[in-house]
Amino acid sequence: MIRFNQTTKTFYLRGKDYAYVMCVGKAEYLLHLYYGTAIRESDAEYLAEKVGSLQDAACADGGRDLHANELWSEYPSYGRGDYHEPCVLIERKDGALMSRFRYVSHEIKKGAPDVKGMPHVRKADETLTIVLKDDFSSTQIYLHYIVGETSEVLVRYTEIKNVGKESFYIKKALSFALDLPDQAFDLFRLEGNPTAERAPEITPLGHGVTKLQSLRGASSHQMNPFAALLRKKVTETAGECYGVQLIYSGSWQITAEVGNAGTVRLQGGINETAFCWKLGAGEMFTTPQVTLCYSAVGLGGLSRGFADFLRECVIDPKYAKQIRPVLVNNWEATYFDFNYEKLFPIIDEAAKLGIDTFVLDDGWLGKRNWDDSSLGDWFVNTEKLPQGLIPIIAHCKEKGLKFGLWFEPEMISENSELYRLHPDWAIGKQGQTPCRGRNQLVLDFSRREVVDYVFGVMSKILSENEISYVKWDMNRSMSDFFSSALAAEQQGELTHRYILGVYELAERLKSAFPHIFFEGCAGGGGRFDAGMLYYFPQIWTSDNTDAYDRARIQWGTSYCYPVSAMSCHVSACPNHQTGRSVSLQTRGAVASLGATGYELDLSKLSAGEEEEVKAQIAAYKKIEPLVLSGDLYRLSSPFEQTYFCEMLVSKDKTQAYVVGEQLRADPNGYYKESYLRLTGLAEEKLYFIEELNITASGAILANFGLLLPHLPDYGSFVWHIGEVK
Ligand code: DGJ
Repeated sequence: MIRFNQTTKTFYLRGKDYAYVMCVGKAEYLLHLYYGTAIRESDAEYLAEKVGSLQDAACADGGRDLHANELWSEYPSYGRGDYHEPCVLIERKDGALMSRFRYVSHEIKKGAPDVKGMPHVRKADETLTIVLKDDFSSTQIYLHYIVGETSEVLVRYTEIKNVGKESFYIKKALSFALDLPDQAFDLFRLEGNPTAERAPEITPLGHGVTKLQSLRGASSHQMNPFAALLRKKVTETAGECYGVQLIYSGSWQITAEVGNAGTVRLQGGINETAFCWKLGAGEMFTTPQVTLCYSAVGLGGLSRGFADFLRECVIDPKYAKQIRPVLVNNWEATYFDFNYEKLFPIIDEAAKLGIDTFVLDDGWLGKRNWDDSSLGDWFVNTEKLPQGLIPIIAHCKEKGLKFGLWFEPEMISENSELYRLHPDWAIGKQGQTPCRGRNQLVLDFSRREVVDYVFGVMSKILSENEISYVKWDMNRSMSDFFSSALAAEQQGELTHRYILGVYELAERLKSAFPHIFFEGCAGGGGRFDAGMLYYFPQIWTSDNTDAYDRARIQWGTSYCYPVSAMSCHVSACPNHQTGRSVSLQTRGAVASLGATGYELDLSKLSAGEEEEVKAQIAAYKKIEPLVLSGDLYRLSSPFEQTYFCEMLVSKDKTQAYVVGEQLRADPNGYYKESYLRLTGLAEEKLYFIEELNITASGAILANFGLLLPHLPDYGSFVWHIGEVK
């Protein structure tokens, strides 16, 4: 619900359990008043009178502008008395940078805007657009607020228009700002590395600016484009949290600033470092969208709010809740070293086990036998596969499997036909030795001809072969930020234009090949973000497939992504990344908490393992609806406890599925009893736990719990729970 009160000049936005209130102050500034637990519309008037008038006192127009520092601003600018970080920096022809934006008008429309060329919220009930105009430059700003009445998430983004006759430069254009009238928060973020993605970290927020960011041209392993302000001592089930997540996959920033005016300012969007966008007369610049999620019931509520929103409003509805193919990928089975003789037995075995799709990974193209050549040469490596892909696809078909193929569309190897033809298509300065990453360079996707070329070569393969699945990989960070095609004054546009090129290619391929299921990947989970999820319903979570480490990685990822978005594979033992030996049972249990698959040489399974995998796949297919649409409850943290434990619960609370992994055997555990509380069930319902043959009420399960088994290192259990009618 979105309402405007003409008398108090107050905007009241109401989602599922939150309210967001703003007003237009006496000097026509757009002021923030409230964000939190849903209050009534009439309460907005109180806020406007009490809070709004205090802010007004601090900002009478003209000479008292320096008091802008005390304002709670909806879109702060630079140079007129607000000494916190601004959202926007406009550089005019004479070099002047100051702006003063004031309210001009607003509009409330049904639905969500269709933003062309960028991932965006697909549906909503209403959108409020507030127009602000700069007193000093020819800049007009459109602030958008998108509300779904049954959603916990408020979506925001900003458009900047040049309404003058001369171009100017945008040196910073964030998507949103949120000034909260309080400073007693901790800052929560998901930091990481390849093979250790999205580890939760909570630190007290001190005075000054804390900047979370990626400068890598991708959202990155290093830090996920997400942050949350948490009340002190927030738990999974209690306490206030304000989460923000960017629907963006390029270089980004989120800052939290504790200033000297009693507030904390949270803001974010495109990374301002080296960003500069030339905006011509009449042109509009659109920022990425961000999602704000408020939870009064702790981190669990925050995660479920984000997960529901992504499944309902961002992920392609055609796939969001559709049963996913269980696949086998040959990467860890063969790496680059494969031929028909090695692949066929894997396919044969996959068919016996009930696997749906065989995916051929890296090494099938050009002359690629290692990671030092051929990216860009998207034709079959006939030294390795003399008859091309046809015999593999035919073999899959004969065995009842579908076929999937790996691509790394955004990259180019110096040792490739493409590079020999178009060296300037690589990002970097000609004549200046580039930084290589995994022996490769990044293609300049800010150039239309490059995107067109890659679309052409990929389309050829995808239309000439029966391919139902594509794994879209991306294996290095960007460096040498220079495009041979951009004018000097537009080099600051490169990274954003690059990601727009990536989005364009994804969009074109998806509409040209609507039957193909695309999975995202970036050297593991290096581009796991809501922007990518708009195009790819699932993303490879990490190259680390060790079920011990995966418990942590999947736990961390679940703070702001649904489990259905996490691609999770059972791999070989000992694990290739860590050397750790974990039972097939545990590897299967942990991988069942996501879009499951296999990544090992299936032809080497023993008869016993074969039976076990068959049973795992059959069991997974039964609980898959919970993976796709259930609510996740994190029960025991792998970062804090010796047990990792998560539960998926159906929306109607009639079914649940629990996975537990003993991360470290606890000898003391034999002398004490530890109970696991199953929060998330309906307390008034009666449940049967299949594996334990126990019947108990939801109230007992939530408030007393079930005895945890004492298991050796990496031992695991699963519990299937159903309502007893
Ligand atoms: C990185 C991915 O994360 C792996 O799964 C695999 O596809 C390799 N790239 C192939 O080069």
